[in-house]
Amino acid sequence: MVQRESWATRAGFILAAAGSAVGLGNVWRFPFLTAESGGAAFLVAYLLLVVGVGLPLVLAEFVIGRRSNRNVIGAFEALGRSNWRFIGGLGALAGFVILSYYSVVGGWVIQYIIASVTGAYTSDPAAYFESVSVGANAIAFDALFMAFVAGIVVLGVRNGLERAAKFMIPSVVVLLVLLAGYGATLEGAAEGYAFYLSPDVSTLFGDALALLPDAAGQAFFTLSLGMGVMVTYASYLGEDRSLLNDGLIILVVDTSIALLAGLAIFPFLFSQGVDPGTGGPGTVFVALGTAFAEFPAGRAVGTVFYVALFMAAVTSAFSILEVIVAYVTETFDVDRKPATAGVAVAIFLLGIPTAIDLRYLTAYDVLANQVLLIGGGLLLAVFVGWAYAAEGTEELRTGMRGGDALGAVWIWLLRVPIVLILLYVLYFGVLAT
Ligand code: PHE
Ligand code: NA
Repeated sequence: MVQRESWATRAGFILAAAGSAVGLGNVWRFPFLTAESGGAAFLVAYLLLVVGVGLPLVLAEFVIGRRSNRNVIGAFEALGRSNWRFIGGLGALAGFVILSYYSVVGGWVIQYIIASVTGAYTSDPAAYFESVSVGANAIAFDALFMAFVAGIVVLGVRNGLERAAKFMIPSVVVLLVLLAGYGATLEGAAEGYAFYLSPDVSTLFGDALALLPDAAGQAFFTLSLGMGVMVTYASYLGEDRSLLNDGLIILVVDTSIALLAGLAIFPFLFSQGVDPGTGGPGTVFVALGTAFAEFPAGRAVGTVFYVALFMAAVTSAFSILEVIVAYVTETFDVDRKPATAGVAVAIFLLGIPTAIDLRYLTAYDVLANQVLLIGGGLLLAVFVGWAYAAEGTEELRTGMRGGDALGAVWIWLLRVPIVLILLYVLYFGVLAT
């Protein structure tokens, strides 16, 4: 078996896991989903799910990873629960699907960095999006994005993932704070905030249950849950320390960045009188491109924005690739280099349809979020809650002071409420599609 690596520092692990969480989901999905789905009402449902369902499942993944020190599929064998291996298999499958279209969007981001510098989208932002989002350009830049991500994964856990995350995640935070600060100075900022977050009283209670599938899908996606990223990352942990602590930090960073992204984006749009649009994969690019085209220093602001988005996307993308590469290197006798190259090419091929027709991209996104991630999370809750409760609790409490009551609450949440919520979400999420 291939020698396993570990994180060099605790900060490195936390930044890498936060880097996985912070991504296109925070900037490309969250603000528009929130604005469309009833503003503050959606936000409340989302926050409750992140804390009540997301955090317990992050901890469940951490526990499996740290205790097994193995990839997402091998972990179940190492824990003596080989029968549950299929959960890891589903997770790896979800990773294939997600990364295949995630890297297509990553390719758009690269094109928008270049276009912000050259001014390519200023004359007709909608037409520009059409020309880059599907077809030869989309495929070429998808490949470029994937090559960049694979280049980091090839370098390994410490020299690749940890080093990249340590540089990129703080940079993303700084750039987004600057952008949101700049947004606050614009005329129209207040209107933007109102559009983003004002509670739509009519939807607050009536549609609370209807909001649940979308809010849960986003909570899973944004925390990189249900597909083994957190299992894999925690499997590189050496020392014992409080997993709860790390989980909380990741949750706070991810949620803050999602909120921050909206606080930057909506003032930009409203200051230029740009219609935020009706959602869909192109909105953040077309609407923002329109705003940046009209700003005094719009192209400079746009460049900064898309560079931040690129770094956020890269740190998420390599976490997904790592899940599968870890499995391949530990299961078959292959080195990291050929494994990474092979997996990256396979995922790229799977993503080609989504770079040809956006309807595929939306379909992949829905399949991944409403079905695969939620299903993976559901199985994980059943596994840890019912089949691995005693050992799981012991592992959670390792490195934590006290924690008796906490462990009991955690198991109870996994056993019943989370299982019920996820069954509901899965049922209605599938019906809605
Ligand atoms: N959490 C990432 C984001 O918000 C997406 C992601 C999903 C990454 C699943 C890894 C696994 O963009
Ligand atoms: Na996220």
